[in-house]
Amino acid sequence: MKIVFLGPPGAGKGTQAVDLALEFGIAHISTGDMLRAEIKAGTELGKLAQSYIDAGNLVPDEVAVDIIRHRLKKDDAKNGYILDGFPRTVPQAEMLEEMLKDMGTALDRAIYLEASEEVIIERLSGRRICRECGKIYHTTNMPSRSPGICDLCGGETYQRPDDQPDAIRQRLQVYQEKTADLIQWYADRDLLTTVAADIAREDTYKELSELFEQLK
Ligand code: AP5
Repeated sequence: MKIVFLGPPGAGKGTQAVDLALEFGIAHISTGDMLRAEIKAGTELGKLAQSYIDAGNLVPDEVAVDIIRHRLKKDDAKNGYILDGFPRTVPQAEMLEEMLKDMGTALDRAIYLEASEEVIIERLSGRRICRECGKIYHTTNMPSRSPGICDLCGGETYQRPDDQPDAIRQRLQVYQEKTADLIQWYADRDLLTTVAADIAREDTYKELSELFEQLK
């Protein structure tokens, strides 16, 4: 099963992908998570990516494509995967299509998680993430049991620098300018399914889980 998750920042792509990947035994591949890991490790790639990410801009296409090209060759991607945050531009989608063709395969579905701008801003502003294990929380929608402490590993939770108001505004603008076109791009290829994401997390999950069952 090879799935792409599309949708604006804060739609809940990461939240849903983590649980679905676990239930269906496939890999969750998030370019955002991989770039943040490079920043944390202080690598050259992390240094390059940080200024783009903190300002709410996209890293160059070649950087994102290169990361995915290496990641898809890893063993845990053999059973299938959810691509979360990739592709982000039409050139990235074209390069992914080409890359998969070279590997003798193709995407099964692009799933668009649809949510209004009002909901997205509220979600991004309250998001907190565990520094150690990456578990995603929200200060009011999905708080950890003790404020600032991860339920799973006891790590400290923090607010992403790009979840500050200026960066959120920039990310939403970049999404409209560069990423939103992908919805039509995948619809033109008969690969698009739209799922409501501005409802309760469990309701979106149920719909996604049923769809994944059909695609298995
Ligand atoms: P990335 O990490 O991919 O960020 P994003 O796409 O902006 O997505 P988010 O992680 O912000 O949102 P999400 O939809 O996963 O929402 P979440 O589940 O966390 O990318 C970051 C940056 O990296 C980019 O800006 C760019 O610079 C760079 N980058 C990454 N990929 C790239 C690429 N391919 N090309 C170029 N650059 C790239 O949920 C959000 C909040 O809402 C959480 O607090 C959660 O608890 C809450 N929530 C979720 N669902 C619900 C619900 N149903 N009800 C209530 N609350 C909910």
